[in-house]
Amino acid sequence: MMAARLRLALLLSVFLCAARARPSLEPTIRLPSERAAAGEAEGADDAVGTRWAVLIAGSNGYYNYRHQADICHAYQIMKKGGLKDENIIVFMYDDIAHSPENPRPGVIINHPQGGDVYAGVPKDYTGREVNVNNFFAVLLGNKTAVSGGSGKVVDSGPNDHIFVYYSDHGGPGVLGMPTYPYLYGDDLVNVLKKKHAAGTYKSLVFYLEACESGSIFEGLLPNNINVYATTASNADESSWGTYCPGDNPSPPPEYDTCLGDLYSIAWMEDSDFHNLRTESLKQQYNLVKDRTSVHNTYTYGSHVMQYGSLNLNVQHLSSYIGTNPANDGNKFVEGNSLPSSTRAVNQRDADLVYFWQKYRKLAEGSPGKNDARKELLEVMAHRSHVDNSVELIGSLLFGSEDGPRVLKAVRAAGDPLVDDWSCLKSMVSLLLTMIAAVMKQLFLSLHSCMPDKPLFSSGSCI
Ligand SMILES: *[C@@H]1O[C@H](CO)[C@@H](O)[C@H](O)[C@H]1NC(C)=O
Repeated sequence: MMAARLRLALLLSVFLCAARARPSLEPTIRLPSERAAAGEAEGADDAVGTRWAVLIAGSNGYYNYRHQADICHAYQIMKKGGLKDENIIVFMYDDIAHSPENPRPGVIINHPQGGDVYAGVPKDYTGREVNVNNFFAVLLGNKTAVSGGSGKVVDSGPNDHIFVYYSDHGGPGVLGMPTYPYLYGDDLVNVLKKKHAAGTYKSLVFYLEACESGSIFEGLLPNNINVYATTASNADESSWGTYCPGDNPSPPPEYDTCLGDLYSIAWMEDSDFHNLRTESLKQQYNLVKDRTSVHNTYTYGSHVMQYGSLNLNVQHLSSYIGTNPANDGNKFVEGNSLPSSTRAVNQRDADLVYFWQKYRKLAEGSPGKNDARKELLEVMAHRSHVDNSVELIGSLLFGSEDGPRVLKAVRAAGDPLVDDWSCLKSMVSLLLTMIAAVMKQLFLSLHSCMPDKPLFSSGSCI
């Protein structure tokens, strides 16, 4: 799980690695930027060979319901759009539909009034088969490098169009996976370059939902390999879960979890409705950007970004994800976006919502109440212990005045997160090991000080 507890560790690692390459690092406040298209003006080529789609949910656990719900919904769009199952490759842990926590067994929804999006979804890579190695092998079309799963890969040719959609937690430079290791931005971009060098696509569109998702492509994705990417957030902010308990619209009362993510449902609910032969990638980007920022107010929400070969964005969505014939009459007209919900929850807190709701709903004195309380406190204690450890390290290294500032410093827009990615990777794994050790020590002390109490249900010991 790539949640709050990793974020500060990553920020610290990023600082240490970026600082090594660039000693005069200044903290920068980044404004929403819409940088002009670079890249060659090759433009409006909608001719299609085969359309391929790779859909991946990088998380597991019922409290992360929304990521797999997003992916299932995306599959239904591809399917109705006319893509064939042999050309759609789905990665999902597949622990949601039949989870004992699921109020509608065997069903997944991605909208409060929405129908089932789980039916028919191919289970190409599930459980531990959802990993970085398989994801890269599938993208590269390398069957022998895949382990487990259906063995389906993007076996594409030079005229083909590829659509990739990833929904998960993330952090600076990194995307989650259900199992370690995580996916780093430089490795992903290198795989895309390799795929381009192999000449096995005409163009590729990548939609990415995760916290700090801009950092995966910013300063890394070239504009000359025919890859166009949009991300839910810029390089240094959270992305947002939506249809969470307490939102308007709220999930049905039996759901304690968020049903979707804000950027994701924005592009999907738009795609569900329009004739995609009349809507360009750029039009969808603008619409999604507007909805994800709550009409540019950023009362909650994030800055949707675009990267890579921006000249591709004049192409129609149908070149990548097809179009549902039932929508032929729904021509895209500028400004006809769907209604926004009135609230959303940032991705990191969206995890807590589930534990809180579960606890809140159980009657006082009921058998599960104490366990639910313990679970909630455990998650919260774990987060704050990690945050505190990293803040402590920051203060020790840079002083108590500079520490907090240094931890939040970012490089200028357009620069990659770090220059030395192997430094970042080893720093993250070192910090995680250190934090695990510190926490173990802390829990042991806590336990020895109150041996007859459960570890987390009493904060009064310290
Ligand atoms: C495919 O993967 C295998 C195993 O990792 C590797 O040996 C081989 O070189 C790869 N093939 C290509 C064309 O990259």
